[in-house]
Amino acid sequence: MRNIIIGNWKLHPQSLREARMLARSIAQIASRIKNVDIVIAPPFPFLPLISAGSKVAIAAQDVFWEREGPYTGEVSGPMLRGVGARYVIVGHSERRNHLHETDEIINKKLKHALLSGLRPILCVGERKRDSDGEFFSVIKQQIEIAFAKVKRGDVTRVVVAYEPVWAISSGKSAKDAEPADANEAALFIRKTIAGIYGVRVARGVRIIYGGSSNAKNAKDFLSEREISGLLVGRESRDAKEFIKIIECAYTVS
Ligand code: PGA
Repeated sequence: MRNIIIGNWKLHPQSLREARMLARSIAQIASRIKNVDIVIAPPFPFLPLISAGSKVAIAAQDVFWEREGPYTGEVSGPMLRGVGARYVIVGHSERRNHLHETDEIINKKLKHALLSGLRPILCVGERKRDSDGEFFSVIKQQIEIAFAKVKRGDVTRVVVAYEPVWAISSGKSAKDAEPADANEAALFIRKTIAGIYGVRVARGVRIIYGGSSNAKNAKDFLSEREISGLLVGRESRDAKEFIKIIECAYTVS
């Protein structure tokens, strides 16, 4: 499956000028990379104001589940489409944690995103890894609730990002989140989706890894059979490093 590299800028950078510079550097390299989908997810205010070229798709970092109404501070799928977003991150652990987003909320957002023509990037992952494998039931529940009432025909439009919470922003992935473990979790995610929609549909779902990925460990994760991309946080704000990760995905593909 074709690799996808997604840069999640989170609450960065601080100015439009920096955002434009970063987008421009990525657009330059993207114009000569084939066979890799490249996506950047800047904060909302920058979305309509940066130009990333035709090879880089834009993602929003969140979306609400209604298209309009009395919902102060929220942003709908059609609004995001209207300013050029093609993807949207849903269920990131930082939102689950700081904003108490539940699996049910994430399910509503996922369905709204699909209805709006956005491709959701659904994040799942355990907070802790126990030696008994209890964390698999956490992932199973996250997947089953997120996909509740999602139409079979829409399933392969979702990118599922396996992001073990303990590996995010920790710099821990290289040492602790072995690519083989991430592959095992990705396989488990695929089996869970197969349990709902059947093996054929599940085979078409792109599953990616996220959590302290960088130019050094990218190749190891991308070489794993079940992993077809990376959701990159910190290193996606450093144009040079992000470009190295994209090049790595190109070499592996
Ligand atoms: P990180 O973030 O690469 O900084 O760990 C990944 C993410 O939260 O998507």
